[in-house]
Parts: sequence; structure tokens; C-alpha cells
Amino acid sequence: MKKDFMILGIESTCDETSAALLRGGKEIVTNVIYSQIEEHKKYHGVVPELASRAHAAKIATVIKEALGNHPLDYVAFASGPGLPGGLMVGRVAAETLAQFKNVPLIGVNHLEGHIFACDFEGNEVKNRLKFPLVALVVSGGHTELWYVKDYGQYKVLGRTRDDAAGEAFDKVAKLLGLPYPGGPQVSKQALNGRRDGIAFPRPLLPGTWDFSFSGIKTAVSYYLRDHKNFSIPDVCASFEQAMVDTLVTKTLKAAQKYKVHHIAVGGGVAANTLLREQMQQAAAAQKIEVHFVERKLSSDNAAMIALAAYQKLAYAEKTGRPFQRNITIDPNMQVRSWK
Ligand code: KG4
Ligand code: ZN
Repeated sequence: MKKDFMILGIESTCDETSAALLRGGKEIVTNVIYSQIEEHKKYHGVVPELASRAHAAKIATVIKEALGNHPLDYVAFASGPGLPGGLMVGRVAAETLAQFKNVPLIGVNHLEGHIFACDFEGNEVKNRLKFPLVALVVSGGHTELWYVKDYGQYKVLGRTRDDAAGEAFDKVAKLLGLPYPGGPQVSKQALNGRRDGIAFPRPLLPGTWDFSFSGIKTAVSYYLRDHKNFSIPDVCASFEQAMVDTLVTKTLKAAQKYKVHHIAVGGGVAANTLLREQMQQAAAAQKIEVHFVERKLSSDNAAMIALAAYQKLAYAEKTGRPFQRNITIDPNMQVRSWK
């Protein structure tokens, strides 16, 4: 890889249309994000058809703005998992650009992007992650626990069987009449509530690393149905505590079981202050270091996709062999070249 090579990342898996340039695997040059929140707000969640249309409408402008007059050496795109319409828009844009510029195209797993976003400090890549580690990705669309042996060597330990963690926050917010996205709203209300006020369940699903959050959400809806004079702050605080307890307990158990000293936490819900504090505390007691993504890069963005692509290239160069895929997240996790 030549010095200061430029990777253009493209992200379009859910409700952010984003393109970013990463220089030399070290520095974010641009990270343009068009958020579709306004389009989805009135539905309290992402509407796939609206998302596809917004991606199609914005992607060219976002790429143009991110690329400007900079040179281009690689194009990377989030090849999944995600909403089919958005994935198609991102893929077609990335393939067209790569072919037109005659540069290699790299497909990246979106969740890999969320994990490696923990390596950013501001606009710089600091390689904070130390392997092996256990990674928790918590967002509006995903809740997954991974064992990460090294860049490119992953095992999915568990994932949500129903609602994603962020989705549960969004649905509870909707039940309470709070605006979308619900996570920050619920957190804000929770500041004035009692965390032990209402006994919502902690679905730990022993014997598996999977998660399930629909039960907590249903418990909240039954509580609201049965209590006419409920306190919104108490409901938010008790719900948030139940979510955080579940996420922290399972992640630390996995870290113990796999004997790792490092945990990475990425995705939109990683912005949650209670989760950050309580995960840090619980991990410190076991001499485990937690690397949270910085809040600014916790939501979907293309810089994390460009960085994950860089890690793939660097790993392939270091080991002298093609990128390893020992699990099966996505068939497109490979470097492809048109040369
Ligand atoms: O990573 P992201 O932008 O989208 C997906 O890839 O799905 O995450 C968005 C999700 C939303 O569900 C939002 O409510 C949640 O992250 N979120 C939070 C917080 N900030 C965002 N959830 C809990 N606490 C927060 N502070
Ligand atoms: Zn995401």
C-alpha cells in the first residue's frame, strides 16, 4: 500500500447516507453524513421504502462532497447487513465509482465498521483495540456479541432474537409519546426517575449468548396499561436500567468465558451514558478494559466503513494471505479487483 493512500467509504445500510475519505488508514479527511431522521420521525422508526428513496436521492451528492478533488485509491462500501434497498444503492454507487476510477472495491460488514470505529479518537486512528476481545454492537437495527481474535477473525457469539436494543428504546419512547429516535429521549427522562422504581425483567437467556428485548418492551406496555398515573421518568429510568443490566451482564460473562481483557462497544446505543458508566465499572472490577466508540462516531457513518476496509487491507498485507473469513457474516467480505 502506498503512503497516504485514500479510501472512500460508503454507508447506506439503514437511515444514514454517508461517504468518507480516510487517508493512509490514519486520518479522517471528510465524513459527510446525511441523516434521514426527519423523514422517519413521524413513524417513530425507519420506514424501509422511504429510506431507499432517500439514499437514492442523496448518495451522489454525499459522495461528491466527500471526495471533492482528492485522489482515490480504493472504494469501500457496507455490503450488509442492512435494508435491501439501501444496500443496493450503496453497492451500485460503489461499483460504478470503482470501475470508473479503475480502483479496487472492498465490501465491508457494517457491524465490523461499528466495532472498528472504537479505534478513532477525534479524526485520528489510534489503534486502541487490543485483541482478542469481545465486542458488543448495539444499534437501532442490531444487537450482537462477537468474539474477535484479530482484525478479520471473528465469531458471532449471539444476537438478538427479536428487537434490537435501540429499537426497544425507540418503541418504549413511542409508547410514552416521546419523539424519535427514542434512546436519547428516554435517557434524558431517566435522569429524574428511580432506576429501581419498577421491576422490569432482565432477559438473560442462560445457556446462550443471544439477547431478547421484546419482553422488556411488553412489560413496559403492560405497566402503562395498568397504571393510569405513571411517572414517565420512573418508567424510563427503570427500563433503561433493565436494558443496561442485561447488556452489561451478558457482555461481561462472555468476556470471562473467552478469557479476554478487552471489550469493544459500538453502535448508536453505545452513546448511552448509563451503559458507558456501568459497563466501565463492572469491567474494571474484573480488570477488563472497555473501549467505547466516541459518541460522535457511534451512529452510522462511512468513516468506520473506510477504516474497516483499511484493516482488511493491512491484515492481508501483514499476513501475506487473502482476507480470512472463518465465520459467515456476509459472503461479500472480500477484496475484489477489476484488474
Ligand atoms: O447505530 P445507529 O445510528 O443505527 C443503526 O445502525 O441501527 O443507532 C441508532 C439507535 C436508535 O435506535 C437510537 O434510539 C439509539 O441508537 N440511541 C440510543 C442513544 N442514542 C442513540 N439509545 C440509548 N441511549 C442513547 N443515548
Ligand atoms: Zn449501524
